[in-house]
Amino acid sequence: MDKFVIEGGTPLKGTLNISGSKNAALPVIAGALLADSTVTIHNIPRLQDIYTFNNVLRVVGAKVDFNESANSIEIDPTHVSYLEAPYDLVRKMRASFYMLGALVGKHGYAKVSLPGGCAWGPRPVDLHLKGMEAMGIDISLDKGYVIAKAGKSVKGGSYTLNPSSVGATVNLLLAAVLRAEDFTINNAAKEPDVVQLCNFLVEMGADITGLGTDTLRIRKVGSLKGVRIHNDPDRIELGTYMIAGAMHPDSELKLTGCNPNQLGNFPELLRQTGTQVDINGTEIHIKAPQVIKPVSIETAIYPGFPTDLQAQWATMLTQAEGESKVTDTVYFDRFSYVPELTRLGANMHVDQNTVNISGKTPLVGASVMSTDLRASVSLVLAAMVAENSSEVLRVYHLDRGYESLENKLNPLGAKITRVEDK
Ligand code: UD1
Repeated sequence: MDKFVIEGGTPLKGTLNISGSKNAALPVIAGALLADSTVTIHNIPRLQDIYTFNNVLRVVGAKVDFNESANSIEIDPTHVSYLEAPYDLVRKMRASFYMLGALVGKHGYAKVSLPGGCAWGPRPVDLHLKGMEAMGIDISLDKGYVIAKAGKSVKGGSYTLNPSSVGATVNLLLAAVLRAEDFTINNAAKEPDVVQLCNFLVEMGADITGLGTDTLRIRKVGSLKGVRIHNDPDRIELGTYMIAGAMHPDSELKLTGCNPNQLGNFPELLRQTGTQVDINGTEIHIKAPQVIKPVSIETAIYPGFPTDLQAQWATMLTQAEGESKVTDTVYFDRFSYVPELTRLGANMHVDQNTVNISGKTPLVGASVMSTDLRASVSLVLAAMVAENSSEVLRVYHLDRGYESLENKLNPLGAKITRVEDK
């Protein structure tokens, strides 16, 4: 397992380009299985989760060609014949569960392993399954696998997601567009990742109304054609680097290739910390404050503060002058990074789904361990402003979601060395 050795205390200065979005790409890659011809997706990041998902598609018989130098992927789904996603692939990445909707939607049958647990507590898939049953798909469980069967056409009806779920909305869309006579998803997720999937499916020929709202109505069409699309930039990578640019008083970053419209209330909250945030088209200019003001946040579904940025925000708040709170209302147990930050000198404690932070405490380098994707990048953020050298272990978590992190940050002043596990 690779680790990072990070010399802290250096500001970040310069320009950094934002990669394509992982979480927006995965639903579209699954959606390509619904087409009758080749789909091409541009702006795909070179990330471990993308490689893993490509392999899931290859297992079922799709031809997947990832042109890494062009960041584009071609998927030919016309030879899919094996309608299963096995446990050893699904356990590596929960989004493999999108195979359930894609395979049953296109082929009327799917056998997909239930995803296991996750570093931030239980992450059920009950809404995916109940929603499909409501649509008229037959769902059964067999030795850790979900088996979904559907006739040529299912009646549809409606299903209300409670709570709103990105994954369930994606799976229900994938299952419905070629099968359901008339199906409505109430309280559907409105995250940009879902909107991109809807736009893609409509471009292919699907009949979906209510795009970008929390009520999606789907009426089946006979077939979907292969199209070419450009994947959105990664709003979570963007938010992470906006926070990175705010944490050292001498930092100043220009972030390019962004979609600032997908940040919800995030830029305004960052401004409240004293950070200068100037948005100009697809560019965002960040200038760190001399003193970070403590700004408490609560995560929420889009366009609220994303749960995928709460660990990074809490890390920044360890360097703010005063008391603050970060509350996660989406995942109640997503604080595994807190004991690690405490080892670096942060003063923070968790109370139920809130972390209370007292700042500013100096951070001093130590060895810390990544436990999940966003936790690991938070440890990197902390190590970059800590005195002396830190080791961040198990950066494979980070490699799942941040494209070439050290190659992007080192030219800006970071001192991050990857030590490969041989
Ligand atoms: C996706 C993102 C993840 C992000 C999350 C919330 C991907 C690959 N992952 O995860 O990075 O943190 O959205 O923005 O895009 N829930 C249920 N039953 C279900 C499904 C979900 O109770 O069947 C609950 C979850 O426990 C959670 C909430 O719904 O409390 C939202 O989860 P969901 O939006 O489904 O997250 P994911 O799609 O798994």
